[in-house]
Parts: sequence; C-alpha cells; structure tokens
Amino acid sequence: MKRLFLLPAISVVLLSCQDNRVEDSARRQALKVQGDSITTLAQQTLVKNLTAAIQKGGYEYAVDFCNVEAASLTSSAVQYINASIQRISDRNRNPGNALKTQTDRDVFEHFRKFDNVKDTLALEDNKYVYYKRINLAMPTCMNCHGAPQNIEPAALARIDAHYPRDKAKNYNLNEFRGLWKLAYENE
Ligand code: HEC
Repeated sequence: MKRLFLLPAISVVLLSCQDNRVEDSARRQALKVQGDSITTLAQQTLVKNLTAAIQKGGYEYAVDFCNVEAASLTSSAVQYINASIQRISDRNRNPGNALKTQTDRDVFEHFRKFDNVKDTLALEDNKYVYYKRINLAMPTCMNCHGAPQNIEPAALARIDAHYPRDKAKNYNLNEFRGLWKLAYENE
C-alpha cells in the first residue's frame, strides 16, 4: 500500500527535475542568442567608428582613436543589460585585454583547435559567460595588426608609443585574433 503512494511522489520529483533541465537549456539558448546579437552590435559599432576615424585622419589618427574610444564603444553594447563585455586575446595589444581566467584559457584553446566553432556559453562561478570568435576578416585589420613593414610608419609609431608591450602585430588575414567575452552578472 505504502509503495503505491510513493510512486506518484517519485514521478512528481522526476518530472520537476526534467522541467528544470528543459528550463535550463531554454535559458542557455536564450543567453546565447542574446550574446550573439549584442556582440554583433558591438562589432558593428567598432568597425563603423574605426572606418570613420580612418577616413577622417588616416591610420595614425585611428590608432589614437582606438586607444581612447575602443573600450567605451564596446561597453555601450551592454548599457541596457546586467553584463560586462570585452575583447580578449592571447596576443593582446591593450594589457587589459589578456586572457584572465582558466575558462578564458580553456575556451581560447578550444576555438584555436576548431576553426568551425563560432561561439559558446560557459559557466564560471555560477555565472554564464558567452564567448564569440573574432577573426581578422577584413584587409583593413592588417594595417594595424599585420607585419610591421606593412603598417604605415606613423601609425606604427603611435601603436608602439601607446602599447610598449604590444603582441598584436604579425597576424595574417583571416587569422584567429581573439574572443568577445560577455559575462552575465547575477544570472
Ligand atoms: C587603426 C588601427 C587598427 C585597425 C585598422 C584595427 N585595429 Fe584592432 N586594435 C587597435 C588598437 C589600437 C587596439 C587596442 C585598443 C585598446 O586599447 O582598447 C586594438 C585592439 C584589438 C582587439 C582587442 C584585443 C587586444 O589586442 O587588445 C581586437 C580583438 C582587435 N583589435 C581586432 C581587430 C580587427 C578584427 C580589426 C579589423 C576589423 C582591427 N582590429 C583593426 C588598432 C587597430
């Protein structure tokens, strides 16, 4: 008799676990979609402003422009949500854009190994972190991230003045350059 009572109880517990799993996977999917659109917006904002700066004052001026504006232009993409956003790289130009956490390093390695991986959602300290690949997909990028002999001398001088420990030169077109990192708070 007792057993008969237990059965419905057990199935209720099982059902609610399953509900949690479904909810969790829907949530992950939603955060990934949101991460993709926010980082796309951030990328478009950066490229639009970078292009305008190059047109206005050439590459030398654009280096100074990126030095001052890149971080705040990037952050403007998350002004309406509770998250932080950044670009990170193993060969960073700005010292603040280095890989910092073990998750950063693991995800970076994974993206390096598998060219076809576009983005991923990781969980770190109980918070979701969305990562998306950045490749040097436009020839323009090479004017500041290519071989030094292909960078305008005046622009090169500005890069070296702002970033004495720059690691972000000598890339090839279409090479893997870094990751967008969108860290959700209190999720
Ligand atoms: C006018 C020169 C210039 C051009 C062109 C340029 N960059 Fe950069 N890039 C910079 C500078 C300067 C920084 C450092 C910005 C900062 O201090 O936050 C930077 C930083 C970055 C970072 C962040 C990681 C790091 O190393 O600090 C990534 C990723 C990046 N660039 C990718 C690109 C891509 C992709 C393109 C082409 C679409 C591109 N860059 C074109 C100058 C340039």
